[in-house]
Amino acid sequence: MSGNLSVGIHDLSFSTTRFVLTHATLAAHNGTDIGKYHAGIGQRSMSVPAVDEDIVTMAAAAAAPIVARHGTDRIRTIVFATETSVDQAKAAGIHVHSLLGMPSATRTVELKQACYGGTAALQFAIGIVHRDPSQQVLVIASDVSKYELDNPGEATQGAAAVAMLVSADPALVRIEEPSGVFTADIMDFWRPNYRATALVDGHESISAYLQAVEGAWKDYAEQGGRALDEFRAFCYHQPFTKMAYKAHRHLLQNCGHEIDEARIARAIGLTTTYNAEIGNSYTASVYLGLAALLDNADDLTDQAIGFLSYGSGSVAEFFGGTVVPGYRARLRSGPHREAIARRQPVDYDRYRELHEYSFPVDGGDHPAPKETTGPYRLAGLSGHKRIYEPR
Ligand code: HMG
Repeated sequence: MSGNLSVGIHDLSFSTTRFVLTHATLAAHNGTDIGKYHAGIGQRSMSVPAVDEDIVTMAAAAAAPIVARHGTDRIRTIVFATETSVDQAKAAGIHVHSLLGMPSATRTVELKQACYGGTAALQFAIGIVHRDPSQQVLVIASDVSKYELDNPGEATQGAAAVAMLVSADPALVRIEEPSGVFTADIMDFWRPNYRATALVDGHESISAYLQAVEGAWKDYAEQGGRALDEFRAFCYHQPFTKMAYKAHRHLLQNCGHEIDEARIARAIGLTTTYNAEIGNSYTASVYLGLAALLDNADDLTDQAIGFLSYGSGSVAEFFGGTVVPGYRARLRSGPHREAIARRQPVDYDRYRELHEYSFPVDGGDHPAPKETTGPYRLAGLSGHKRIYEPR
């Protein structure tokens, strides 16, 4: 690592889908008390992709404003994290590279470890910038969370992409060393290659997450990290927003702190505002939490933020970051709020239709209906190839 070089998140932008299903609509269909969704799991609505939207179109929409602001001269690497991969061989980031007209002198790769993949991408990007501080890395985390209809996980679906530019002397958040890391072989949530929807042991997955929080924090402390009290706020992976509260309470108890709900709300509350409307976006979730915090909090200059990234299976990482003076001038709060507000609500039948839709797999020409209002779309499948285009 190069001395005291400061490396971190220089820019951050996210996108989500055209459609949205409210939990009120889902509750009216399945007879669930709305209190379970709104208060119990802390979710209000979930983003639902149109037929011509997927991880690539969301990723390109998230990354385009970053490329427009900073150019591509210094970006020599794209790391795309996802667990909703559209191909077993080709990296989804190559489609993004092409849609955004990026130079051929770029290395592009895809990473996977459930929801933790976005953090792996961020940490690997930081390593690359330490090796050569003149380079920037485009990190993209993009996912569609999909469970079977009428499964308890259904209420925790969602979709979004976060794009981050990682560079030396970042304008938003300096990422600190050390990191606390944790791996345990557990089948709490998984998706075999032949399935479009995830399998999950819901309550087991919550225990696995809490165990991983404990493990990652223990390692963070052993590596000489900050004390818990030093953090102004905590961005947790949010499969549903109440999970962040559960995790934080667990961490406080584990560290022998008293449970003060007002303090917990102050440390977590603002990080949940986007996730409560978007739903689980897997790899993007922690960084939607960061976007919500930066966009909506009063001045956070020089404040420390704790990050806890969890991916089922399982891997977790705890690390800290410091908010950089002047960060507010670089935020994208308006477009972020607009991306959530402009989604079009769908009724239950339309949601079900979108949920059940899949392209034929016969290798024929299968154009996708023009539905998205985003800047890029999946034009269709032809000869088993996915064809993308600007809208
Ligand atoms: P469930 O079992 O149907 O719900 O599904 P529940 O009965 O546990 O109720 C949920 C909460 O609502 C409870 O609160 C209830 O008390 C409360 P808690 O006890 O937990 O504090 N509740 C109410 N509150 C107010 N008014 C009411 C009411 N009724 C109940 N009327 C479950 C919940 C999370 C299991 C389900 O949604 C699920 O399976 N989700 C998918 C898995 C998941 O999200 N796991 C989280 C940890 S794993 C993870 O984060 C990784 C992941 O993102 C994947 C990856 O890494 O790639 C999933």
